Amino acid sequence: MKAAVFTEYGSPDVFQIKEIEKPSPKDNEILIRVVAVSINFGDLIVRDFKHVSPKEFNMPSLLYWPARMEFGFNKPKITIQGSEFAGTVAAIGKDVTLFKQGDEVFGYLGMKMGANAEYLSMSENAMVALKPSNLSFEEAATIPYGGFTALSLLRKANIQKGQKVLINGASGSIGSAALQLAKAYGAEVTGVCGTLRTDMVKALGADKVIDYSKEDFTKGKETYDLIFDVLGRTTFDKAKRVLNPNGILLFASFKSKALFQMLITSKFGDKKVICGLSSENVKDIVTLKELIEAGQLKAYVDRCFPLEKIADAHRYMESGQRHGNVVLTVAS
Ligand SMILES: NC(=O)c1ccc[n+]([C@@H]2O[C@H](COP(=O)([O-])OP(=O)(O)OC[C@H]3O[C@@H](n4cnc5c(N)ncnc54)[C@H](OP(=O)(O)O)[C@@H]3O)[C@@H](O)[C@H]2O)c1
Repeated sequence: MKAAVFTEYGSPDVFQIKEIEKPSPKDNEILIRVVAVSINFGDLIVRDFKHVSPKEFNMPSLLYWPARMEFGFNKPKITIQGSEFAGTVAAIGKDVTLFKQGDEVFGYLGMKMGANAEYLSMSENAMVALKPSNLSFEEAATIPYGGFTALSLLRKANIQKGQKVLINGASGSIGSAALQLAKAYGAEVTGVCGTLRTDMVKALGADKVIDYSKEDFTKGKETYDLIFDVLGRTTFDKAKRVLNPNGILLFASFKSKALFQMLITSKFGDKKVICGLSSENVKDIVTLKELIEAGQLKAYVDRCFPLEKIADAHRYMESGQRHGNVVLTVAS
């Protein structure tokens, strides 16, 4: 089968389309014929991990070194990227009961990756579910990573109906899902993004949109019960001015200083910092499917590239021009 393989770190040109062995499903596994795969933040980092310094890494340095070891220190250990996908069940192992051949599915492989290929094999009990009936394969492939991360982190902040929520980074994978999930929880949501993405964030249902290149939300008049900062671009020192009493600053990306502030604010003061690490719950993929089918979670696809054009797709991702998700189509 055909796969986009990379055996060294570097520019988008590291990918090569190669023929590799097709996986065969174990007894509890399903073999999926991949139709579409989304490219996300993690793919860009991992493609050139060797040249990402601990400072550029959006997490504490303590997590940087284990991640470098996991993905390969000088060259990639995991040579096929692609963590979120949609496709069709091509075959099932003898013990599989949840899926049958021909089912249309979507799912998430996490750090294991491997979806940038014609076929992948995974346990029927992993993060995979029937594809939402109202989404195309390309749309469905953009949902799992941002969707389950946002869901998991919003739960950690105990989001409530009627709260005023600000999402800093509302146009990306996690933020666009967080914005819509916060609306589904019954919150009033302000989305912060770059100039090119303001229309997109409005279309996703934000009550207000702030362009971070024109306005600093921490200097505004509005105050919030929850500020969800996806890239860790603000600080507690700045954001506490616009946090309501008992307000929470939730970081998806954070450094050691924010961890220390989480510890301190858990004991003192009425405004809290939470540095959240998402926990993978396989049932969340079904929750996401249900939210999509209820019209509460939408996909926003910008451009699709054939798998063979993966280098162009990565270049487009890195151009800063994208508004919405970028998808690789593997099969039609
Ligand atoms: N905590 C966890 O469990 C967990 C799990 C997975 C990932 N992460 C972290 O999440 C981050 C990736 O998130 P993602 O996949 O959603 O990334 P993404 O798709 O690349 O989106 C990044 C978002 O940040 C916005 N942004 C860029 N510069 C900004 C600024 N100066 N101020 C405010 N917003 C800004 C972007 O806006 P524009 O594009 O409009 O400019 C975009 O909305 C990484 O740092 C990763 O480490 C955390």
